[in-house]
Amino acid sequence: MCGIIGYIGSRNAIPVLINGLKRLEYRGYDSAGISFLKDDKIGVRRCAGKIKELEIFIRKEKLKSNIGLGHTRWATHGKPSEENAHPHRAGGIVVVHNGIIENYIELKEGLKKKGHVFTSETDTEVICHLILSYSKKGHGLEQATKEALKLVKGAYAIGVINEAEPDKILAVKKDSPLVIGLGDGEYFIASDMPAFLKYTRDAMILENGEMATLTHKGVSVSDIYSNRPVKKKVMKITWSPAMAEKGGYKHFMLKEIYEQPRAIADTIRGRFSLEKGEVNLKEFSLKQSDLKKLKKVFLVACGTSWHAALVGKYMIEDMARVPCEVDIASEFRYRRPLIPGNCLMIVLTQSGETADTLAAQKEAKRLGARVLTICNVVGSTSSREADGVFYTHSGPEIGVASTKAFTTQLTALYILSVALAKAKGQLRAAEITALFNELLQLPEKVEKALKCDDSILKIAKKFYRVRDFLYLGRGINFPIALEGALKLKEISYIHAEGYPAGEMKHGPIALIDNDMPVLALAPDDRVLEKILSNMEEVKSRGGKLIAVATEGNTRVHAHTSHMLFMPETNYYLSPVIFSIPLHLLAYHMAVLRKCNVDQPRNLAKSVTVE
Ligand code: M6R
Repeated sequence: MCGIIGYIGSRNAIPVLINGLKRLEYRGYDSAGISFLKDDKIGVRRCAGKIKELEIFIRKEKLKSNIGLGHTRWATHGKPSEENAHPHRAGGIVVVHNGIIENYIELKEGLKKKGHVFTSETDTEVICHLILSYSKKGHGLEQATKEALKLVKGAYAIGVINEAEPDKILAVKKDSPLVIGLGDGEYFIASDMPAFLKYTRDAMILENGEMATLTHKGVSVSDIYSNRPVKKKVMKITWSPAMAEKGGYKHFMLKEIYEQPRAIADTIRGRFSLEKGEVNLKEFSLKQSDLKKLKKVFLVACGTSWHAALVGKYMIEDMARVPCEVDIASEFRYRRPLIPGNCLMIVLTQSGETADTLAAQKEAKRLGARVLTICNVVGSTSSREADGVFYTHSGPEIGVASTKAFTTQLTALYILSVALAKAKGQLRAAEITALFNELLQLPEKVEKALKCDDSILKIAKKFYRVRDFLYLGRGINFPIALEGALKLKEISYIHAEGYPAGEMKHGPIALIDNDMPVLALAPDDRVLEKILSNMEEVKSRGGKLIAVATEGNTRVHAHTSHMLFMPETNYYLSPVIFSIPLHLLAYHMAVLRKCNVDQPRNLAKSVTVE
């Protein structure tokens, strides 16, 4: 997730771009850059760091231009650095891009053979070179861009300027957002509306496959596949700038909860080939032969990431039949763990900067383990120090309570488990295809799960004044009970516990009385019967039961009237789906209790001290 902005009009474009980038900084903030046309020559200024640093960097030059592009980056391919910052340039073509180009390695190889020289590690740079190669064949910017995009697989929202056609910005989108701002004789492109709200409230939203051409005279839109002009509706933005930054959501946490279908789709993008039944392991340099030899996996993390690690154990042991040990990083680093040969340590960390996780990672390497990190922040310490990285690509997570980072970690673990199971010969081709097919449906099913929001709000209104809360789960959903409890306590300050439901009668059942709400996770799986009897035990002691079950399961409904139904999926992906109502429940309870949802007391987004 990055932020792009473009401007053409009579103002000086430079402050407009910098202002717009500041409003888009929530989309990414590891490096930034602008390009502009001055005396018909392209200029590019970029630097690592936040927009503030870019602003300082260009201040002395007193740049002026009536057209320009800007970009704030959240790295996906290549570390945060000046070279990898956008805009990218090839000849007279300049591009800013938000998205992921899946086939950039093949495209880059092909272009290199034709003499193109690359200066960055990014996927984006191939777009500039492709457009340049078609312009050299005599195509104008529109046609060259269309031809280039025919070769590109993946998601993109791009802004393009050509030195040879100095009065024009092109904008094209597929699966990444792009809006056009329509001012009085001035026009904007942006990843999100806050970037130009200061100048205009009239906007058009580009749809997949649409190309907008912005000139000083106006904006025209066409379909890149049919070449036909498209008539667009102009909308009036009524949001305030602050509201718009959160996409109209009241809090970043809620926005991030709702981003999960997109985030999961980005985690999956380019990771496997359904036709070949193969997982793409290139990015994290693990060969099939390495996986085949694996004797043991350690999963190590903190907080929510540790809950993902617990789910990972169920996935890996069940699918690949490789023994797994799960550790909280602060325990692992001091417990003198025994690391056998041929073992892999999987570190899970959204930020890649958690002190205990980094120390555990170091310790594992010292003891001879290979380390793979499942991480969200490109170029973070964990990703730099690990032997391999599986980036989740869920985009910046700003709310302190982790939501989309968690479900994308689960998605990554699922993909890794299939890869491992395949290498170990534990899954047949047809089983692998079925697992991938189910994964492909996950974003849509998460979207469906989010529809329970209103029912959850009703439940939250009933329970938000309670002092304690119990979450029960079994099997692969036991860690989801832990995660539900963590979410609730960290943002609403209600004391909450997650328990494996079978443990209830070994102690916690003593807590059940008429005031105790108990949320039971009851998907249609191999332990459904067991959780139904645990629910009965709660009910007969007066506990207030809330159940989350698979759509259409009337048997669970018979145990309680507080029901939430989730779309059906396979055993391994049920933790992703069943996390959604728990995120929403914690969110609504916290809002009703008037808590600071995005910045709960005593907590920091990443814990960089021990
Ligand atoms: O960045 P990390 O994944 O390493 O962070 C680990 C924990 O600090 C983090 O998950 C924390 O528990 C969250 N606030 C939970 O919502």
